[in-house]
Amino acid sequence: MNHYEQKDTILHAENVSVSYGEKTIIKDINFLERDTVRPGKVQGQVIAFLGRSGRGKSTLFRVITGLNKPTTGHVLIPDSTKKPIDGKIPAKDVEEGDVGFVDQRYTLFRHKTVYQALTYAMRNSTLSKAEKNDKIMRYLVEWGLEKSKDQYPNELSGGQRQRTAILEQLLSSGHYIVMDEPFSGLDIGNILNVKTAFKLINESHDLNTIIFSTHDIELAVELADSLYVIGYPRNAEGKLETFGTILHHYDLKAMGIAWHDSFGAQHRDLAEEVKKALLAS
Ligand SMILES: Nc1ncnc2c1ncn2[C@@H]1O[C@H](COP(=O)(O)OP(=O)(O)O)[C@@H](O)[C@H]1O
Ligand SMILES: [Mg+2]
Repeated sequence: MNHYEQKDTILHAENVSVSYGEKTIIKDINFLERDTVRPGKVQGQVIAFLGRSGRGKSTLFRVITGLNKPTTGHVLIPDSTKKPIDGKIPAKDVEEGDVGFVDQRYTLFRHKTVYQALTYAMRNSTLSKAEKNDKIMRYLVEWGLEKSKDQYPNELSGGQRQRTAILEQLLSSGHYIVMDEPFSGLDIGNILNVKTAFKLINESHDLNTIIFSTHDIELAVELADSLYVIGYPRNAEGKLETFGTILHHYDLKAMGIAWHDSFGAQHRDLAEEVKKALLAS
């Protein structure tokens, strides 16, 4: 059994809905995630969203990244510019820039070296120049990019490019990274690269938080410590509605199956349960 504690709220969705005109895409979305702390370990958070196509995952992600305002409700994160009140950091509505969004193409500035791109990503940070440099150098070493520091995108391997693009978002946003289907259409080597990046994000800072979607149920069960199934709920007559909402939440930490190196019977059972939930929604 892994020991851990749940600390401050890091992400809180409250009654989120998104409608376009008459059409409701997602509704009644509520969830709350806390900072997980494990003794003697740096442990970030990995939150997976599974749902069939068109159930509103990308729509929800655009709200979580502050790119779209929800029609109702709020997505709240701690306001790091505020002083704690009674030991609690006040919350604020997420704004564009608070949460990094990594697109699948891992786009980089062609004319910036890795170091220049990361410095640019931190341009709005209140840290001093020396502190920024320290932070960037620490990440470059941890992420195996130290030797690539002065290289341009065309001189990097696929994995190095991905890691640089992810770091850029992590450094500009603070600690949150949203990845919409980061594993779709990748070959096995690149899937491993992204998995390695997840591990690096998790081990780099306690508050680092990955929010991702995938259609690969096993991969979600393997990587996530918190997993949400988003789908169409059923109305009183048992008929499927046409908006997405959260139908199930699995806390793999509480289940004792988060952070495991191997995929065991419990993981397989959960994957099976999730598969059924997806098919019914
Ligand atoms: N800007 C928009 N205007 C109208 N409908 C939209 C818009 N964006 C997405 N939708 C619709 O919202 C639904 C959910 O889409 P999406 O969030 O992309 O789902 P998912 O990522 O789960 O596949 C789809 O039916 C899509 O057509
Ligand atoms: Mg989508």
